[in-house]
Amino acid sequence: MSTRAVLITGANGEIGHGLVSRLTEKHPDIHIVAIDVHPLSKALQDQCHEVIVGDVLDSTMIDRLAAFYDFSSIYHLAAILSTKAEREPVLGHRVNVDGTLGLLELAARQARATGENVKFLFPSSIAAYGLPDVATKMRAGKVKENEWLDARTMYGINKKYCEDLGRYYNWYYRQIDPQPTAAHVDFRAIRFPGLISAITMPTGGTSDYGPEMMHNAAAGKPYDCFVPESATLPFMTMPDAINALLQLEETPAKNLTQVVYNIGAFSVSARDFYDVIKEAFPEAVVNFKPDVLRQKIVDSWPANVDDSWARKEWGWQPEYDFVRAFREYLIPAVKERYRT
Ligand code: SER
Repeated sequence: MSTRAVLITGANGEIGHGLVSRLTEKHPDIHIVAIDVHPLSKALQDQCHEVIVGDVLDSTMIDRLAAFYDFSSIYHLAAILSTKAEREPVLGHRVNVDGTLGLLELAARQARATGENVKFLFPSSIAAYGLPDVATKMRAGKVKENEWLDARTMYGINKKYCEDLGRYYNWYYRQIDPQPTAAHVDFRAIRFPGLISAITMPTGGTSDYGPEMMHNAAAGKPYDCFVPESATLPFMTMPDAINALLQLEETPAKNLTQVVYNIGAFSVSARDFYDVIKEAFPEAVVNFKPDVLRQKIVDSWPANVDDSWARKEWGWQPEYDFVRAFREYLIPAVKERYRT
């Protein structure tokens, strides 16, 4: 008899950390199966039914999971972020695309075996967009899901392609089989803006300058910011990102007309980050030393996103705007984290 469970890949990552805790708070009886290439902290392990230290590309591990569990939902968070994937493109493609394909197949097998849809929650990214230059970006304003989709990074291309794979598994999987399956993969993706957590430091991303500036200021370390003061991206706090995933997971399928949704909270420049961080940490030393090559990636991502589909279809609304995010969540929490 298989155990009914929820699978989280990349559970030790920035989103995974918060998601495990929020899910166990919300559903104390939940069985979470967590996978990560790195071991989870003891506190996180204690909240999981099983923790597997392993690679999402390991098909033997995936087969084993299929044999022992019935997953109602899969949160496939494991990924190589944009800067790292640009340094190691083939690795990025393997993990981001082949890893996702393996998990989608697991979900499809399970849907076939149990006759019940398996929800597949996928964090996509503003990296799926590709604007040609900063002038066009600033003119474009709030970008809609179906605009400016010429992604320029390996990570962005991977995310965009996985959205298409998800759409395929959702609507067209094995479409010429004479016997259609009774259940399918219910794929739902969110294109996240840059995420800022007070608890964890990001690794390998290109939107990391915001969180890095804040964590370094709180730790009393100088920071060289790799984009100019004017660089602007949409950002969001980690609690809002996790709310969004949970909210989208809970929305009845009949309410959803899309498989991919933008969500926004606030759009800010690196200078805006600097000002609010300097106010909280007057001793902070931040030098703007743009790395032209990484800056070009930021220039190709939208300054803001149009999230009206998410607002209309599943009631998306961020809890934190820029001022509240720093005043009520980020600054108090990072001060606490780095208190000596
Ligand atoms: N934050 C991610 C990155 O910078 C984008 O989704 O890679």
